[in-house]
Amino acid sequence: MKILIRNIKELIQTEKIARIKVAGRDMASLPTIENAWVFIEDGLIKGFGNMNAFAHSEFASQASKSDVTLIDATGKMVFPSFCDSHTHIVYAGSREIEYIDKIKGLSYEEIAKRGGGILNSAKRLQQASEEELIEQAMERLEEIKYLGTGAVEIKSGYGLTTESELKMLRVIRKLKDLSPLTIKATFLGAHAVPAEYKQRQGEYVDLIINEMIPMVAGEDLADYIDVFCDRGFFTPQETERMLMAGIKHGLQPKIHANELDFSGGIQVGVKYNALSVDHLEFTGDDEIKALLGSDTMPTLLPGAAFFLGMEYPPARKMIDAGLPVAMASDYNPGSSPSGNMQFIMSLGAIKFKMLPEEIINAVTINGAYAMGVEDTLGSVAVGKKANLFITKPISTYAFMPYAYGSNKVEKVIINGKIQ
Ligand code: NIG
Ligand code: FE
Repeated sequence: MKILIRNIKELIQTEKIARIKVAGRDMASLPTIENAWVFIEDGLIKGFGNMNAFAHSEFASQASKSDVTLIDATGKMVFPSFCDSHTHIVYAGSREIEYIDKIKGLSYEEIAKRGGGILNSAKRLQQASEEELIEQAMERLEEIKYLGTGAVEIKSGYGLTTESELKMLRVIRKLKDLSPLTIKATFLGAHAVPAEYKQRQGEYVDLIINEMIPMVAGEDLADYIDVFCDRGFFTPQETERMLMAGIKHGLQPKIHANELDFSGGIQVGVKYNALSVDHLEFTGDDEIKALLGSDTMPTLLPGAAFFLGMEYPPARKMIDAGLPVAMASDYNPGSSPSGNMQFIMSLGAIKFKMLPEEIINAVTINGAYAMGVEDTLGSVAVGKKANLFITKPISTYAFMPYAYGSNKVEKVIINGKIQ
């Protein structure tokens, strides 16, 4: 399939030479082309530029060919699809009943302590069949696709037994075949301590190290390893042991850190060269210092802090200190039951005081880096996958974070195909 999009009001995040991420002050600049065209063939971006120069480009003759789909984007913008680098999209059933307790005043940790939260989802997932899980996850993937997401990382972590963790990861593998989205899988056996291991947390850590990780790696079911390193969950020492085992089996870390406290998670992540450390509500000078100069992408999940009514990470301070920042949805039934990256953009503006340019960098190129797909996604560059969306007519790209709550995406193209 060949597609030529013409008269694009503004083509966003264009790169002549593809970068891997954007940090600090550079996050406030965004390369774009006004009055643009883009040509797509065989699932890839083949060329783009200004309409004024189109007639002289090597693609000029394509406009009259019968096998080329022409799209007129007058008044509309074209973005590279969002890269949502942190989700828990495979789960069985929702948890709105628990949420009512939260409305009444119970905290996330209190709900978790009495067997709710992640353990509640684990019970339900253990009882669900692979088919049921696939059906529910596919619905969520289709939903986020039409909201502009073109790549998504999905974690296990609602299994919490060897059998159910493997089941979850096999489901994610099937989703990679069934969905056109680019998907990365992360093993998160250390999401919570199962009830039967309550007084024997160390034994559960041993199970992860000695049984789960080798089996996950043996079946090649995961790209990354994650640990919920936080107060009331796993300690930095336990995290360290699990990350070492994961790395030994070829799984790069990508961890949950500092959501509930200054847990030491950020430092452990950096020490083991995590691709990303995520959440980061509790980030101070020491944590920023640890991240500066590392290859680890600080990834913020404003949907979780918004939904739980908790602390927000100091995004402004982090960017001003020179760090890169990515933003992801954390789509999950407990702390962020939405995968709407357009709303995440708005939270970036409203809660983090990030500029539109910083926000767009955080959900495209930096999101791509945080899930290891920066070579193929995250920007409009020749040779990258044609995962793009066309907006409804909008006045400026700042309208994207500004008009919170409404869907600004009109048409979605994934792997060069109109969806
Ligand atoms: O990223 N913080 C840990 N895990 C998830 C929540 C999972 C759940 O509550 O089901 C998160 O917020
Ligand atoms: Fe999460």
